Amino acid sequence: MTQQQHSLRRLRWFRLGLLLMAMLGQGAWAQSYAVPKPSPGLMPNPGVGKGLYGKFCASCHGVDLQGSAKGPPFLHKIYEPAHHGDAAFQLAAKNGVRAHHWTFGDMAPIPLVSPDEVAHITAYVRVEQRKVGIQ
Ligand code: HEC
Repeated sequence: MTQQQHSLRRLRWFRLGLLLMAMLGQGAWAQSYAVPKPSPGLMPNPGVGKGLYGKFCASCHGVDLQGSAKGPPFLHKIYEPAHHGDAAFQLAAKNGVRAHHWTFGDMAPIPLVSPDEVAHITAYVRVEQRKVGIQ
């Protein structure tokens, strides 16, 4: 095989590899960034959300939403709806969160909480945020 044939063959494998990586990457992307949807017609209920928040989120985000040694407060301007919309809550529960705003470290996914439950939790967080003027 000449040198040229050899490099052509390598180039072909290289292209095939790129194509495969692109396909795999897209699948993974679609899977982790698809926002989980609550059931159609669900009415998010802050009262229900309060209990669920206490069960799944308070250990890090604080019983009073003021944060803890393990996680940030939700009564903070950066979590206002315009900056962290309801989709951010669904994605956080499903995929976890890579540390980027704080130095607490990453948040692990919470697979036990359902999209409906996250919608209730988010409703509770929004009510509490509005009480302190974060909207
Ligand atoms: C084991 C600790 C822990 C638990 C439990 C936890 N979180 Fe978190 N969460 C974190 C940390 C730490 C961050 C901050 C990451 C950063 O931005 O630095 C965070 C960030 C977030 C964010 C911001 C996401 C973003 O896009 O910046 C949301 C929303 C969130 N959490 C929702 C929840 C909800 C809802 C629950 C309960 C179902 C929950 N968390 C439970 C530790 C936790």
